[in-house]
Amino acid sequence: MTTQQDPQLATPTVSFPQDFLWGAATASYQIEGGAFEDGRTPSIWDTFSRTPGKVLNADSGDVACDHYHRRADDVALMAELGLRSYRFSVAWPRVQPGGRGPANQKGLDFYRGLVDDLLGRGIEPWLTLYHWDLPQELEDAGGWPERDTAYRFAEYAGLVHDALGDRVKFWTTHNEPWCSAFLGYGSGVHAPGVTDGAKALAAAHHLNLGHGLAVQAIRAAVPDRQMGITLNLHSLQAATDAPEDLDAVRRIDGVGNRIFLDPVFRGEYPADLLADTAELTDWSFVQDGDLAIINQPLDMLGVNYYTRQVVAGPSDDGAPQSHWRAPSAWPGSGQVRFLTRELPVTEMGWEVDPDGLVDLLQRTHENYGPIPMYITENGAAYDDKVAPDGSVPDPDRVAYLDAHLKACHEAMASGVPLRGYFAWSLLDNFEWAWGYSRRFGIVHVDYDTQVRTPKTSAHWYADVIRRGGLAA
Ligand code: NOJ
Repeated sequence: MTTQQDPQLATPTVSFPQDFLWGAATASYQIEGGAFEDGRTPSIWDTFSRTPGKVLNADSGDVACDHYHRRADDVALMAELGLRSYRFSVAWPRVQPGGRGPANQKGLDFYRGLVDDLLGRGIEPWLTLYHWDLPQELEDAGGWPERDTAYRFAEYAGLVHDALGDRVKFWTTHNEPWCSAFLGYGSGVHAPGVTDGAKALAAAHHLNLGHGLAVQAIRAAVPDRQMGITLNLHSLQAATDAPEDLDAVRRIDGVGNRIFLDPVFRGEYPADLLADTAELTDWSFVQDGDLAIINQPLDMLGVNYYTRQVVAGPSDDGAPQSHWRAPSAWPGSGQVRFLTRELPVTEMGWEVDPDGLVDLLQRTHENYGPIPMYITENGAAYDDKVAPDGSVPDPDRVAYLDAHLKACHEAMASGVPLRGYFAWSLLDNFEWAWGYSRRFGIVHVDYDTQVRTPKTSAHWYADVIRRGGLAA
């Protein structure tokens, strides 16, 4: 990896290794639609999006991008863009309706077809087993706060692996388990909408346990299977060096990052996290042997990064606070403030801060590496419009992606073993509680006609992939 002169373009380029895995990502509930077809049963997101007031404009994933019926065209589009890899997730209630019992072959056929289409076009499939669509029946039985869900997840993982293990090389267990635990069961802004701090912590543990059990189940079939987990690691910066601000960072790092990183990579929960949360739970849901199960050797760590957070202690000094809040049922709530800075923000209100990515990658590498890392999501929502000539200009997204790829390059130059990058997202899609109001795609989707139009960023990204780098 070097910074060199590109003879063809006569401009300096920031170049990436030949085998760098360039991709784009999506998730089942956000794009598939076909919510009632071929034996799929409801997930917690079907239920949540039907609950009044939970999702903006009462949007749901019933149709989404209709990818369930447009799979072949969507893969053709990926090939046109020159993607080397495509990260997708499998909908648990599609392949194992109700979350128990035998596989639904029709559901599996969809993913068999997808993987065949990808491989046929030379695109490496990157499979995520859980991107938040828990079968509703398992939620009715207690959901992630209930230990049995971890065992159900491992069984489901084995069943997906039986069907696709011969063709899919890269496997990740969870996507952003922090969101499943703390947004799903803590603040309740995500499905299933529970607000109970103790349940959020139990959910976090059972997600961890499910991860370890799933890795074991899959490696029992193929011992050298490439396996990992994707975390939305929080890049944190203390407002000042004051002890109160540093302590706020420690707390959020505990409940935002180390609650997953430490058991997965070190086989332990951090003592300060247990102390911080003692009022909520005694952690008796952690049974003997659980930490050894969770602490499986991994081949890669997926990192999703969007922004950095500036954290301060509780004493209000009048500094402007951001819209981030520690959810009221969070262990950190009342102990921390999240501050805003004078930085540009995306349509989500998230500050654009590529340096936060360099810092996060370096710290994670130092503390938990060496482990090959991949950016499994990075991207931005902007209010994109189709221009009269049919194009979709999105210069802010191009600038965002460009800056973050340069951040990746900088991290790699400093020794971080970053092996690939997936833009979030391939398509505009169902942005959870925000419904269809937030567009993250490099490809625009007209939800009335389902017409896909590559935005300027898609053409730009195709060019980056073709050249293996960026203009400096
Ligand atoms: C993280 C999630 O994995 C994805 O589903 C979501 O759409 C993006 N971040 C943007 O919020």
